[in-house]
Amino acid sequence: MSLAVIGPGRVGVAFARRLREAGVAIDGFVGRDPGRTRLAAESIGAHVLAIEDLVRSPIVLVAVGDQELERVAEDAAAAGAVAAGSVWWHPSGFHGPDALRAVRKHAAHVGVVHPLCPIPDADRGYESLAGALATVAGDREAFPILEAVAMQAGLLPVAMRAEADRVRYHAACALAANGVTAAIGLAIDLLEDAVEPADARRVAASLAARAAHLVFEHGAEVALSGPAVRGDADVLAAHTRALRSTDAADAYRELMRRAVAIAQRRGSIDAAMATRLDQALETDG
Ligand SMILES: NC(=O)c1ccc[n+]([C@@H]2O[C@H](COP(=O)([O-])OP(=O)(O)OC[C@H]3O[C@@H](n4cnc5c(N)ncnc54)[C@H](OP(=O)(O)O)[C@@H]3O)[C@@H](O)[C@H]2O)c1
Repeated sequence: MSLAVIGPGRVGVAFARRLREAGVAIDGFVGRDPGRTRLAAESIGAHVLAIEDLVRSPIVLVAVGDQELERVAEDAAAAGAVAAGSVWWHPSGFHGPDALRAVRKHAAHVGVVHPLCPIPDADRGYESLAGALATVAGDREAFPILEAVAMQAGLLPVAMRAEADRVRYHAACALAANGVTAAIGLAIDLLEDAVEPADARRVAASLAARAAHLVFEHGAEVALSGPAVRGDADVLAAHTRALRSTDAADAYRELMRRAVAIAQRRGSIDAAMATRLDQALETDG
Protein backbone atom coordinates (compact mmCIF):
# COMPACT_ATOMS: atom_id res chain seq x y z
CA MET A 1 0.00 0.00 0.00
CA SER A 2 1.27 3.51 -0.73
CA LEU A 3 -0.35 6.86 -0.15
CA ALA A 4 0.12 10.47 -1.26
CA VAL A 5 -1.08 13.58 0.57
CA ILE A 6 -2.51 16.82 -0.82
CA GLY A 7 -2.20 19.47 1.91
CA PRO A 8 0.99 19.53 4.01
CA GLY A 9 -0.82 20.93 7.07
CA ARG A 10 -1.48 19.66 10.58
CA VAL A 11 -3.68 16.71 9.68
CA GLY A 12 -1.83 15.70 6.51
CA VAL A 13 1.54 15.54 8.27
CA ALA A 14 0.18 13.84 11.41
CA PHE A 15 -1.50 11.09 9.32
CA ALA A 16 1.56 10.67 7.08
CA ARG A 17 3.86 10.19 10.07
CA ARG A 18 1.55 7.65 11.70
CA LEU A 19 1.05 5.70 8.48
CA ARG A 20 4.73 5.69 7.58
CA GLU A 21 5.52 4.25 11.01
CA ALA A 22 2.98 1.51 10.36
CA GLY A 23 4.86 0.55 7.19
CA VAL A 24 2.75 2.44 4.61
CA ALA A 25 4.95 4.01 1.89
CA ILE A 26 4.30 7.76 1.66
CA ASP A 27 4.65 8.75 -2.02
CA GLY A 28 4.91 12.44 -1.11
CA PHE A 29 3.09 15.72 -0.58
CA VAL A 30 1.35 18.11 -2.93
CA GLY A 31 1.07 21.63 -1.48
CA ARG A 32 0.50 25.18 -2.62
CA ASP A 33 3.38 26.81 -0.72
CA PRO A 34 6.71 25.34 -1.93
CA GLY A 35 8.59 26.06 1.33
CA ARG A 36 5.97 24.55 3.64
CA THR A 37 5.50 21.58 1.33
CA ARG A 38 9.24 20.85 1.28
CA LEU A 39 9.46 21.11 5.09
CA ALA A 40 6.54 18.70 5.51
CA ALA A 41 8.03 16.23 3.03
CA GLU A 42 11.48 16.41 4.64
CA SER A 43 10.00 15.92 8.11
CA ILE A 44 9.02 12.37 7.14
CA GLY A 45 11.58 11.67 4.42
CA ALA A 46 9.03 11.89 1.59
CA HIS A 47 9.06 13.67 -1.79
CA VAL A 48 7.43 16.87 -2.97
CA LEU A 49 5.05 15.90 -5.77
CA ALA A 50 3.35 17.74 -8.62
CA ILE A 51 -0.38 17.19 -8.82
CA GLU A 52 0.00 15.03 -12.00
CA ASP A 53 2.25 12.61 -10.06
CA LEU A 54 -0.77 11.50 -8.03
CA VAL A 55 -1.93 9.33 -10.91
CA ARG A 56 0.66 6.79 -9.67
CA SER A 57 -0.72 6.69 -6.10
CA PRO A 58 -3.34 4.06 -5.25
CA ILE A 59 -4.52 6.06 -2.20
CA VAL A 60 -4.68 9.85 -1.90
CA LEU A 61 -5.43 11.79 1.29
CA VAL A 62 -6.87 15.26 0.56
CA ALA A 63 -6.07 17.13 3.79
CA VAL A 64 -6.83 20.72 2.77
CA GLY A 65 -9.20 23.14 4.50
CA ASP A 66 -12.94 22.46 4.30
CA GLN A 67 -13.51 25.41 1.93
CA GLU A 68 -10.85 24.20 -0.51
CA LEU A 69 -11.84 20.54 -0.65
CA GLU A 70 -14.18 20.48 -3.65
CA ARG A 71 -12.02 22.79 -5.72
CA VAL A 72 -8.86 20.78 -5.04
CA ALA A 73 -10.67 17.60 -6.16
CA GLU A 74 -11.83 19.38 -9.33
CA ASP A 75 -8.29 20.65 -10.04
CA ALA A 76 -6.84 17.15 -9.54
CA ALA A 77 -9.41 15.65 -11.89
CA ALA A 78 -8.75 18.36 -14.50
CA ALA A 79 -4.98 17.78 -14.22
CA GLY A 80 -5.35 14.07 -15.08
CA ALA A 81 -4.13 13.12 -11.58
CA VAL A 82 -6.78 10.48 -10.87
CA ALA A 83 -6.11 6.80 -11.60
CA ALA A 84 -9.13 4.56 -12.19
CA GLY A 85 -9.67 2.35 -9.13
CA SER A 86 -7.65 4.58 -6.80
CA VAL A 87 -9.09 5.59 -3.42
CA TRP A 88 -9.33 9.27 -2.53
CA TRP A 89 -10.37 10.34 0.96
CA HIS A 90 -10.51 13.38 3.20
CA PRO A 91 -10.50 13.86 6.99
CA SER A 92 -13.24 16.50 7.26
CA GLY A 93 -16.16 16.00 9.63
CA PHE A 94 -18.22 18.65 7.87
CA HIS A 95 -18.15 17.17 4.36
CA GLY A 96 -19.21 13.72 3.21
CA PRO A 97 -17.58 11.59 0.50
CA ASP A 98 -19.44 13.59 -2.17
CA ALA A 99 -17.07 16.51 -1.69
CA LEU A 100 -14.67 14.40 -3.80
CA ARG A 101 -17.23 13.65 -6.54
CA ALA A 102 -14.97 15.25 -9.18
CA VAL A 103 -12.46 12.39 -8.81
CA ARG A 104 -15.24 9.79 -8.65
CA LYS A 105 -16.08 10.80 -12.23
CA HIS A 106 -12.67 9.36 -13.19
CA ALA A 107 -13.56 5.94 -11.73
CA ALA A 108 -11.83 6.56 -8.39
CA HIS A 109 -13.56 5.53 -5.16
CA VAL A 110 -14.04 8.13 -2.45
CA GLY A 111 -14.57 8.29 1.30
CA VAL A 112 -13.95 10.03 4.61
CA VAL A 113 -11.94 9.14 7.71
CA HIS A 114 -12.80 11.79 10.31
CA PRO A 115 -10.42 11.56 13.27
CA LEU A 116 -12.26 12.31 16.51
CA CYS A 117 -9.45 14.12 18.26
CA PRO A 118 -8.16 17.68 18.21
CA ILE A 119 -5.07 18.14 15.99
CA PRO A 120 -3.75 21.58 17.00
CA ASP A 121 -0.42 20.91 15.25
CA ALA A 122 1.29 17.99 13.55
CA ASP A 123 3.25 16.83 16.62
CA ARG A 124 0.29 16.79 19.00
CA GLY A 125 -1.87 15.34 16.23
CA TYR A 126 0.61 12.52 15.73
CA GLU A 127 0.27 11.71 19.43
CA SER A 128 -3.48 12.07 19.70
CA LEU A 129 -4.35 9.99 16.60
CA ALA A 130 -3.11 6.89 18.44
CA GLY A 131 -6.11 5.26 20.10
CA ALA A 132 -8.66 7.92 19.09
CA LEU A 133 -11.92 6.98 17.38
CA ALA A 134 -12.58 7.93 13.74
CA THR A 135 -15.80 7.73 11.77
CA VAL A 136 -15.42 6.09 8.37
CA ALA A 137 -17.77 6.53 5.41
CA GLY A 138 -17.39 5.94 1.70
CA ASP A 139 -18.08 4.07 -1.49
CA ARG A 140 -18.42 0.29 -1.18
CA GLU A 141 -15.00 -0.26 -2.77
CA ALA A 142 -13.30 2.43 -0.66
CA PHE A 143 -14.77 1.54 2.74
CA PRO A 144 -12.67 -1.53 3.67
CA ILE A 145 -9.50 0.18 2.46
CA LEU A 146 -10.26 3.26 4.55
CA GLU A 147 -11.01 1.16 7.62
CA ALA A 148 -7.59 -0.45 7.16
CA VAL A 149 -5.92 2.96 6.68
CA ALA A 150 -7.60 4.26 9.87
CA MET A 151 -6.38 1.25 11.85
CA GLN A 152 -2.86 1.61 10.49
CA ALA A 153 -2.89 5.23 11.65
CA GLY A 154 -3.70 3.92 15.14
CA LEU A 155 -7.37 4.95 15.02
CA LEU A 156 -10.39 2.90 16.10
CA PRO A 157 -12.86 3.05 13.19
CA VAL A 158 -16.59 3.63 13.70
CA ALA A 159 -18.80 3.07 10.65
CA MET A 160 -20.93 6.09 9.74
CA ARG A 161 -24.36 5.70 8.12
CA ALA A 162 -24.38 6.74 4.47
CA GLU A 163 -27.60 8.73 4.93
CA ALA A 164 -26.41 10.59 8.06
CA ASP A 165 -26.99 14.34 8.22
CA ARG A 166 -23.37 15.45 8.06
CA VAL A 167 -23.90 18.98 9.37
CA ARG A 168 -25.82 17.72 12.40
CA TYR A 169 -23.10 15.12 12.99
CA HIS A 170 -20.43 17.82 12.81
CA ALA A 171 -22.40 20.07 15.19
CA ALA A 172 -22.57 17.18 17.67
CA CYS A 173 -18.80 16.70 17.42
CA ALA A 174 -18.28 20.44 17.97
CA LEU A 175 -20.52 20.31 21.05
CA ALA A 176 -18.65 17.33 22.52
CA ALA A 177 -15.20 18.79 21.81
CA ASN A 178 -15.32 22.60 21.55
CA GLY A 179 -18.40 23.01 23.76
CA VAL A 180 -16.87 20.97 26.56
CA THR A 181 -13.58 22.87 26.20
CA ALA A 182 -15.51 26.15 26.50
CA ALA A 183 -17.34 24.88 29.63
CA ILE A 184 -14.01 23.83 31.17
CA GLY A 185 -12.63 27.29 30.33
CA LEU A 186 -15.49 28.94 32.24
CA ALA A 187 -14.90 26.66 35.22
CA ILE A 188 -11.18 27.53 35.21
CA ASP A 189 -11.98 31.26 35.35
CA LEU A 190 -14.26 30.72 38.36
CA LEU A 191 -11.81 28.40 40.13
CA GLU A 192 -9.01 30.97 39.92
CA ASP A 193 -10.63 32.75 42.89
CA ALA A 194 -10.25 29.58 44.93
CA VAL A 195 -6.92 28.04 43.96
CA GLU A 196 -3.70 28.93 42.12
CA PRO A 197 -4.24 29.41 38.33
CA ALA A 198 -2.19 26.31 37.42
CA ASP A 199 -4.23 24.26 39.87
CA ALA A 200 -7.51 25.73 38.53
CA ARG A 201 -6.71 24.22 35.14
CA ARG A 202 -5.81 20.86 36.65
CA VAL A 203 -8.92 20.78 38.86
CA ALA A 204 -11.35 21.66 36.06
CA ALA A 205 -9.78 19.45 33.38
CA SER A 206 -9.38 16.47 35.69
CA LEU A 207 -13.03 16.68 36.81
CA ALA A 208 -14.15 16.94 33.19
CA ALA A 209 -11.95 14.01 32.13
CA ARG A 210 -13.35 11.80 34.90
CA ALA A 211 -16.94 12.77 34.07
CA ALA A 212 -16.30 12.07 30.37
CA HIS A 213 -14.74 8.71 31.23
CA LEU A 214 -17.83 7.70 33.23
CA VAL A 215 -20.09 8.71 30.31
CA PHE A 216 -17.86 6.68 27.96
CA GLU A 217 -18.14 3.61 30.20
CA HIS A 218 -21.76 3.82 31.39
CA GLY A 219 -23.73 6.56 29.55
CA ALA A 220 -24.85 10.03 30.69
CA GLU A 221 -27.69 8.86 32.94
CA VAL A 222 -25.44 6.69 35.10
CA ALA A 223 -22.54 9.15 35.02
CA LEU A 224 -24.46 12.24 36.17
CA SER A 225 -23.90 13.40 39.77
CA GLY A 226 -24.49 16.63 41.70
CA PRO A 227 -27.44 18.76 42.84
CA ALA A 228 -29.73 17.89 39.89
CA VAL A 229 -29.55 14.17 40.70
CA ARG A 230 -29.98 14.85 44.43
CA GLY A 231 -32.97 17.13 43.82
CA ASP A 232 -31.27 19.95 45.72
CA ALA A 233 -33.07 23.14 44.66
CA ASP A 234 -31.36 25.28 47.34
CA VAL A 235 -27.90 24.51 45.95
CA LEU A 236 -28.96 25.20 42.34
CA ALA A 237 -30.50 28.52 43.42
CA ALA A 238 -27.35 29.45 45.38
CA HIS A 239 -25.13 28.62 42.37
CA THR A 240 -27.34 30.65 40.07
CA ARG A 241 -27.17 33.66 42.41
CA ALA A 242 -23.40 33.34 42.83
CA LEU A 243 -22.79 33.27 39.06
CA ARG A 244 -25.31 36.02 38.25
CA SER A 245 -22.79 38.64 37.19
CA THR A 246 -20.22 36.28 35.64
CA ASP A 247 -19.63 35.07 32.07
CA ALA A 248 -20.67 31.59 33.22
CA ALA A 249 -24.29 32.52 34.17
CA ASP A 250 -26.10 31.55 30.94
CA ALA A 251 -24.01 28.44 30.25
CA TYR A 252 -24.50 27.21 33.83
CA ARG A 253 -28.26 27.66 33.66
CA GLU A 254 -28.61 25.96 30.27
CA LEU A 255 -26.32 23.02 31.04
CA MET A 256 -27.94 22.43 34.46
CA ARG A 257 -31.37 22.39 32.79
CA ARG A 258 -30.02 19.53 30.68
CA ALA A 259 -28.71 17.88 33.85
CA VAL A 260 -32.19 18.13 35.41
CA ALA A 261 -33.70 16.47 32.30
CA ILE A 262 -31.15 13.64 32.47
CA ALA A 263 -31.79 13.17 36.21
CA GLN A 264 -35.52 12.87 35.48
CA ARG A 265 -34.92 10.39 32.68
CA ARG A 266 -32.80 8.30 35.03
CA GLY A 267 -35.62 8.32 37.60
CA SER A 268 -33.63 10.12 40.33
CA ILE A 269 -36.25 12.90 40.48
CA ASP A 270 -39.91 13.09 39.50
CA ALA A 271 -41.61 15.67 37.26
CA ALA A 272 -42.62 17.92 40.19
CA MET A 273 -39.04 18.01 41.48
CA ALA A 274 -37.74 18.70 37.96
CA THR A 275 -40.04 21.73 37.77
CA ARG A 276 -38.80 22.97 41.18
CA LEU A 277 -35.19 22.60 40.05
CA ASP A 278 -35.88 24.44 36.78
CA GLN A 279 -37.47 27.26 38.82
CA ALA A 280 -34.42 27.37 41.11
CA LEU A 281 -32.28 27.93 38.02
CA GLU A 282 -34.39 31.03 37.26
CA THR A 283 -33.48 32.51 40.68
CA ASP A 284 -32.79 36.18 40.22
CA GLY A 285 -31.24 38.00 43.17
N1 LIG B 1 -7.07 20.18 12.90
C1 LIG B 1 -8.00 19.42 13.44
O1 LIG B 1 -8.15 19.38 14.66
C2 LIG B 1 -8.86 18.55 12.56
C3 LIG B 1 -9.52 17.44 13.14
C4 LIG B 1 -10.29 16.64 12.32
C5 LIG B 1 -10.42 16.93 10.97
N2 LIG B 1 -9.79 18.01 10.43
C6 LIG B 1 -9.93 18.27 9.00
O2 LIG B 1 -8.67 18.09 8.36
C7 LIG B 1 -8.60 18.94 7.19
C8 LIG B 1 -7.31 19.71 7.20
O3 LIG B 1 -7.27 20.51 8.38
P1 LIG B 1 -5.89 21.04 9.00
O4 LIG B 1 -6.20 21.42 10.40
O5 LIG B 1 -4.78 20.10 8.72
O6 LIG B 1 -5.67 22.37 8.14
P2 LIG B 1 -4.29 23.10 7.83
O7 LIG B 1 -3.29 22.87 8.90
O8 LIG B 1 -4.64 24.51 7.46
O9 LIG B 1 -3.75 22.36 6.52
C9 LIG B 1 -4.33 22.49 5.26
C10 LIG B 1 -3.19 22.39 4.28
O10 LIG B 1 -3.76 22.35 2.97
C11 LIG B 1 -2.95 23.19 2.13
N3 LIG B 1 -3.71 23.59 0.96
C12 LIG B 1 -4.74 24.45 0.87
N4 LIG B 1 -5.17 24.57 -0.40
C13 LIG B 1 -4.39 23.75 -1.13
C14 LIG B 1 -4.30 23.45 -2.52
N5 LIG B 1 -5.10 24.04 -3.39
N6 LIG B 1 -3.38 22.54 -2.93
C15 LIG B 1 -2.53 21.97 -2.04
N7 LIG B 1 -2.55 22.24 -0.71
C16 LIG B 1 -3.45 23.12 -0.27
C17 LIG B 1 -2.57 24.33 3.02
O11 LIG B 1 -1.48 24.99 2.46
P3 LIG B 1 -0.80 26.28 3.15
O12 LIG B 1 0.28 25.67 3.99
O13 LIG B 1 -0.29 27.07 2.01
O14 LIG B 1 -1.85 26.99 3.94
C18 LIG B 1 -2.24 23.58 4.31
O15 LIG B 1 -0.91 23.10 4.29
C19 LIG B 1 -9.86 19.81 7.22
O16 LIG B 1 -10.82 19.24 6.38
C20 LIG B 1 -10.32 19.70 8.66
O17 LIG B 1 -11.72 19.87 8.81
C21 LIG B 1 -9.01 18.83 11.20
